[in-house]
Amino acid sequence: MFAESEILSRTGGREVAEIAFDTETIAARVAELGREITHHYREGELLVVGLLKGSFIFMSDLVRAILRPHQVDFLVAASYGHGTTSSGSVRLLYDPETSLTGRHILLVEDIVDSGTTLNRLVRLLRERGPRSLEICALLHKRLAPQLELEPRFVGFDAPALFLVGYGLDHAEDFRHLPFIASLKV
Ligand code: IMP
Ligand code: MG
Repeated sequence: MFAESEILSRTGGREVAEIAFDTETIAARVAELGREITHHYREGELLVVGLLKGSFIFMSDLVRAILRPHQVDFLVAASYGHGTTSSGSVRLLYDPETSLTGRHILLVEDIVDSGTTLNRLVRLLRERGPRSLEICALLHKRLAPQLELEPRFVGFDAPALFLVGYGLDHAEDFRHLPFIASLKV
């Protein structure tokens, strides 16, 4: 737990509404996710791919909780247009250097909201012929009516609020908070 004054020091005086998931709760769940993932992948090569920037803290904790060999890479995606059509595609600003073909790919995302980002990425990654493709999302708002691929591993169901911290930002602020909080509106 953190004292109010310490939180305000970290945010430069900007108040967060409420802590949604505290540091200890996140750590315990990430350890469980690591065990779930370890048991799921019995054999084969595993590549864990983090979607930047939001997943950076979650990734660093998660990969240390996966108790089997794997490699780590990242991708940076930029969406075209404004998601009003289903023909929208996604452009990769950074593409994993490691080949995806024939390997188990675990895509790690901070939060699933409308699902637009993930739907586009899943289509793109499937074209690369992975042995399997699964998603691990720290948070899932359960708002998306139809996902191309439902995350197999989910940290927490999230409230329909704007959340920050533990990698999640609001206009690039708050990523460094060691807990997840809702923003004051
Ligand atoms: P989607 O494409 O609508 O599912 O949005 C996914 C992306 O939007 C996430 O990877 C986040 O970067 C961002 N996002 C969605 N909801 C939140 C939130 O509550 N807080 C911070 N970022 C969010
Ligand atoms: Mg963001």
